[in-house]
Parts: sequence; structure tokens; C-alpha cells
Amino acid sequence: MTHPRTAICPGSFDPITVGHEEIIRRSLKFADRILVAVAHRATQAKQGMFSVEERIQMIREVFTDEPRVEAGDFTGLLVDFARDEGAHLIIRGLRAVSDFEYEFQMALMNRELCADLETVFLTPNVEHSFLSSSLVREVASLGGDVRPFVAPPVLERLRNRFATAGG
Ligand code: PNS
Repeated sequence: MTHPRTAICPGSFDPITVGHEEIIRRSLKFADRILVAVAHRATQAKQGMFSVEERIQMIREVFTDEPRVEAGDFTGLLVDFARDEGAHLIIRGLRAVSDFEYEFQMALMNRELCADLETVFLTPNVEHSFLSSSLVREVASLGGDVRPFVAPPVLERLRNRFATAGG
């Protein structure tokens, strides 16, 4: 019997966007279980918009239809967390050339730290290639309509935070 293949999709997810969701759903084609891992930023003074617990809750709500997607958090090195979870793959979305250098550095460093763990990059649909959590936060905070960019549970949270986040 083959072992289930676990892939980790790490990030800040502050909040999860439809771009993230697309990448995670695509990954189910080659992984049996996807662990969406929200990083605690011990080294960063700046707090995010949503707490790590809220981000995890939103991810779970987005994937209520998909039992193979789980959400959790981690502190410390991603490679240690991946090892503990028995993951074989790290999945990252690559939107544009501007992402490349950062992603390339991280992938090489992670390989240095753990040679068995592969990083796989997936490209999103063109209509999601400009999308980021930071832009969603900014547009929502300024009263713009973010309905095309986030799933309903996330929209709800943004609406609670900013009375005019679309609709
Ligand atoms: O969504 P982000 O903010 O681009 O995600 C970055 C993240 C969380 C994947 C990266 O910062 C990370 O892996 N942090 C955990 C600490 C770690 O392992 N650092 C070394 C990575 S080379």
C-alpha cells in the first residue's frame, strides 16, 4: 500500500484569497492531503490584520467541502514542521516575475535545510495573477469591493471589520 502524500502549503494567509484557494485545489491533483500552514511571525513586530486563529478558521470555512485540506499553524522553521507532519512537498503559488527571486531563495534555503523536501510552484489563473492578501486588505480597508477576490466566509469577516467591504 502506498503512503498518502502530504503537501504543505505555507504562508501568511492574511486573509486567504481566491488565488490561494485555486492553488490549493489544484494541488489536490497530486497530493492526498494538503496541510495549509499559517506561519506565526515570531521575528516580525508587525501584527497582521487577522489573528492566526481567525486565518485558520477562514481557511477551514473555505474548504468545508474538501476533507483532504486541513489548516493549522506553525512556529519556527517550515522544514521542521513539514518533517513532523510527514510532508513530502511544499507548495507555493508563483504569480509573476516579481515573486521569483524571493521564492527561489526560499526554495533553495529550504532544500539546504532539508534535502528530501521538494518545493513545487503552481501558477494561478491569469485573472488571479495580480491578487494578493495585502491588496485585498488595502482595498477592503478603503471601502472597495473585494467580492471577486475572496470566498464568502472571508468577505463576511472583512465586512465585519470594515463596514463597506463590498455589497
Ligand atoms: O505568504 P508569505 O508571507 O509569503 O509566506 C512566507 C512563509 C511563511 C512561507 C515563510 O516566511 C516561511 O516559511 N516562514 C517560516 C520560517 C522559515 O522556515 N524560514 C526560512 C524559510 S527559507
